[in-house]
Amino acid sequence: MRLLVTGGAGFIGANFVRQTVADRPDVRVTVLDALTYAGNRESLDSVADRIEFVKGDIADTALVDELTAETDAVVHFAAESHNDNSLADPWPFVQTNIVGTFALLQAVRRHGVRFHHVSTDEVFGDLTSDDPPFSELTPYNPSSPYSATKASSDLLVRAWARSFGVRATLSNCSNNYGPYQHVEKFIPRQITNLIDGQRPRLYGAGHQIRDWIHVDDHNHAVWAVLERGAAGRSYLIGADGETDNLTVIRMLLAEFDRSPDDFDHVTDRPGHDQRYAIDATRLRTELGWTPRYANFRDGLAATVRWYRENEAWWRPYKEHTEDAYRKAGERVLPL
Ligand code: NAD
Ligand code: DAU
Repeated sequence: MRLLVTGGAGFIGANFVRQTVADRPDVRVTVLDALTYAGNRESLDSVADRIEFVKGDIADTALVDELTAETDAVVHFAAESHNDNSLADPWPFVQTNIVGTFALLQAVRRHGVRFHHVSTDEVFGDLTSDDPPFSELTPYNPSSPYSATKASSDLLVRAWARSFGVRATLSNCSNNYGPYQHVEKFIPRQITNLIDGQRPRLYGAGHQIRDWIHVDDHNHAVWAVLERGAAGRSYLIGADGETDNLTVIRMLLAEFDRSPDDFDHVTDRPGHDQRYAIDATRLRTELGWTPRYANFRDGLAATVRWYRENEAWWRPYKEHTEDAYRKAGERVLPL
């Protein structure tokens, strides 16, 4: 099987590529990645001689057409993925997440290629503490420029499946954690602050809830959908990992033997979504998927170890990332 993986130098995509090379020697992987600030070829070093890497933009229609003509399936991870960046400058999100997905859909339509679209639970907006978790029947109601562009791309995929018969599936996953995640994101940012002897930075009071899943569990689910998912159908991916941000910070502080109150409250994110939670019944019952990382605390401890042991991977990004947060106006709050 020939597989084209877009965004394969990013966090989830690179973990997907390494997992695929290890578990499925029969799959020939080509990565298409623009190597934006979020892409890192070093995340693929261990498999570099077993894959083909193409540096390019998913919105480049000629390149996408050429690569799609030579593949059996596309797994589409490439995106602008960070909410805070989408608030500072939404344009790259419109261009990559909407126009880029459109270019891929036109190519798979032309060549009759199987397509899997990797999306997010944020397309559903947020929940109150009393709401039931998101399911495949929850209406779309995105809050941020990031989630609005992901929702737009999902709707394009659905339309191309229905109107043009494209063999497309979608998955909407909750927050991932694990190795090789950019230091702009919540968990790696706090781990690397702690490694540097700094205080973690919590947005507002930290009562927002995310439904954490290990990146390897997400990627096993993507394979389950790719192999056994029904065309035109969406699958929600989550591992019952609901935890509020304050608790995550305190779990990390404990890993570093620091006091539970040794952190800063900083400026909250505008429009901050309160709670995400996933009901993954369809994925579990129809496709037989179960998560392997049942314990978030253990997965978090393994992630801390990874960042301690792989400083050379993240160090070049740290200072610039913190600088960007400062320039965006992040301030310590007197709480
Ligand atoms: P990431 O930001 O770490 O990686 C994105 C990758 O896409 C990078 O390698 C980047 O270089 C590449 N890319 C960006 N624009 C491109 C373009 N125009 N052409 C080609 N490549 C381009 O993102 P991630 O966290 O790995 O997320 C991957 C996908 O999973 C995204 O679609 C995201 O919406 C979705 N998702 C992420 C999470 C999460 O918790 N991180 C959860 C659910 C869904
Ligand atoms: O739910 C899936 C989504 O999860 C994905 O679609 C996105 O690509 C991914 O980035 C993630 O979005 P979030 O906005 O939830 O993730 P982030 O890591 O930015 O923040 C997680 C929570 O932590 C959120 O409530 C904001 C908070 N936070 C974040 C940072 C960076 C802090 O309290 N402090 C911080 O320094």
